[in-house]
Amino acid sequence: AVDVRAKDIEKLEEMLARLPKGKNWAGGEELIQYQGFWLPKEMAKGVMLIHGHLKPRPTDVILSTYPKCGTTWLKALAFAIINRSSHHDFQNHPLLTSNPHDLLLPLIERYINSVDIETLPSPRVCPSHLALSLFPNSMAAASSPCRFVYICRNPKDTFVSMWHFMNKLRRLKQVPPLSLEDALDSFSKGVSFCGPYWDHVLGYWKASLESPNNVLFLKYEDLKREPSVYVRKLAEFLDLPFSEEEENEGIVEKIVNLCSFENLSNLYVNKNNNINIKAAGVNTSHFFRKGQVGDWINHLSPEMANAMDQITQEKFRGTGLNF
Ligand code: A3P
Repeated sequence: AVDVRAKDIEKLEEMLARLPKGKNWAGGEELIQYQGFWLPKEMAKGVMLIHGHLKPRPTDVILSTYPKCGTTWLKALAFAIINRSSHHDFQNHPLLTSNPHDLLLPLIERYINSVDIETLPSPRVCPSHLALSLFPNSMAAASSPCRFVYICRNPKDTFVSMWHFMNKLRRLKQVPPLSLEDALDSFSKGVSFCGPYWDHVLGYWKASLESPNNVLFLKYEDLKREPSVYVRKLAEFLDLPFSEEEENEGIVEKIVNLCSFENLSNLYVNKNNNINIKAAGVNTSHFFRKGQVGDWINHLSPEMANAMDQITQEKFRGTGLNF
């Protein structure tokens, strides 16, 4: 199997070299526009390997996000929900000593290149930043038994969060910072890590309307407002609803508190520049900044906000999705 992959990769490299290139905010090799989405080369290769090698199982769950929309939070919640029978002591829980990214598999599009995913036991819980249309039809179609949990976030907050994050990465690489204006220009044109943001969100939104049993579509803002409601929804979607006994014990609130920004961001493991291994070697603290709704107001001028709102209105018009 390794030989086949090596050969595949050679062909993929040739093909990828011919595709359009765009600004990589993190300061590394340029992004490639692959089937409508801007990806680092390694991730584009990962998509091809997923198509060629992944055998979907009905029990697969993909935790999918547009970057900076709440990936860390979703991973923490999913881990706490799925593993609550073995980790029911919330005073002594893996999330208190490990960064959420280190408790789950790395992004499937990065992981598939290095590890034989077919050897993993079911159910496989695979994080991803890929747009739905980049998955094979056998996984993404309404008739597929695979499940996707997607979280999205207000585009202005997502943009501001991404700009901060990418500048942290640039600092690590000693690359000069990217201006807010340049980043906004790029984001608005769709050229952002895994972007265009709007197309990414819409793919999952439409699928969630067509097949709500396959795609659970969550919003960061809703989770912030009513975390227990959405923790229950998530557990039900994963076929792991809370029992009456668990409800009486207050497990839902315990999970909400364990995974809250206030709790996780203040833990030793998520501070002090600890290196996160699975999430591409960045500091664990980089995944926690403010964790607030509406922080864009502290960064974007009214003109910038207006311009972004116009794009959002245009893209989401008639879809029933709004922010
Ligand atoms: P801000 O930069 O606005 O603070 P991702 O996890 O997808 O990379 O997204 C990171 C964003 O989610 C950051 O937003 C981060 O602070 C916020 N975040 C991280 N953990 C969170 C949590 N447990 N609850 C709420 N927000 C969280």
